[in-house]
Amino acid sequence: MATVIAVANQKGGVGKTTTTANLGAALAIRGQRVLLVDLDPQGNLTSSFGLEKNLERTVADSLLDRRVPLPIIIAPNGTAPLPETRHHLAVVPASVSLASAEAQLMNKLGRELRLRDQLASIEGDYDFILIDTPPALGVLTINALVAATRVVIPTEARFFSLQGLQMLEESIEEILYLNPKLEVLGILLSKLDRRLKEERQVSEYLRQRWGARVFVTEVGTNSKILEAGSTGSSVFHYSGAEKAVDAYLALADEVIARA
Ligand SMILES: Nc1ncnc2c1ncn2[C@@H]1O[C@H](COP(=O)(O)OP(=O)(O)O)[C@@H](O)[C@H]1O
Ligand SMILES: [Mg+2]
Repeated sequence: MATVIAVANQKGGVGKTTTTANLGAALAIRGQRVLLVDLDPQGNLTSSFGLEKNLERTVADSLLDRRVPLPIIIAPNGTAPLPETRHHLAVVPASVSLASAEAQLMNKLGRELRLRDQLASIEGDYDFILIDTPPALGVLTINALVAATRVVIPTEARFFSLQGLQMLEESIEEILYLNPKLEVLGILLSKLDRRLKEERQVSEYLRQRWGARVFVTEVGTNSKILEAGSTGSSVFHYSGAEKAVDAYLALADEVIARA
């Protein structure tokens, strides 16, 4: 049975999609069978694998109609980490159609349970299923938190991000009504700039406040991560990104150990 992980934080730009793509690739390199689910109408995860064109079906179709199985696309050559692990990494794509699907879901029964029910039939095929979520605590993020047993929370190390973490913690408490198994797997400092005093202070505070729930691994701000993301390749395919590669592999090892 797969460990299903929602990658969530209602704030945008904190590294949810980058973490999902690169952690997914790192887990695949470690020999895990990985499925990545794009649950953001912006479809950034889908584009980061170059899959945004000519999509026949997307996750939206399967959320609206339970008879439509999730579309699963093997990560194409060149985006997946290594040719021999290619088949270990697959993606369920999203497009902007997910925005209208979200609106339609509001009038439907079992709207919070739909992703969970779709994943139930394929969970046996994977070791890890990672769900990338939109920057909001709406019905799509709730679907991810209901389908998952674990949450990874990427965050910036800024004072204003602390309030967001508090809100997310409260939302997770609420989700327990529907999904009592949900636990925070870890908080990830996903774009830490140790040169800034504020970031050093906040990261220290986070480790005091959340203790061992903060991943030991920190991902530093790294222009190679940004560049790799915008050219549609993971850091594992980008030259000069060795530091980022090491960070995501270390994160993958922590995730495997905790899961
Ligand atoms: N460690 C990092 N160093 C530098 N840039 C990063 C890092 N992590 C993410 N980014 C960049 O920050 C931006 C926001 O990241 P993204 O993963 O899209 O956030 P989210 O999905 O939470 O909105 C992207 O341009 C991404 O390439
Ligand atoms: Mg995103």
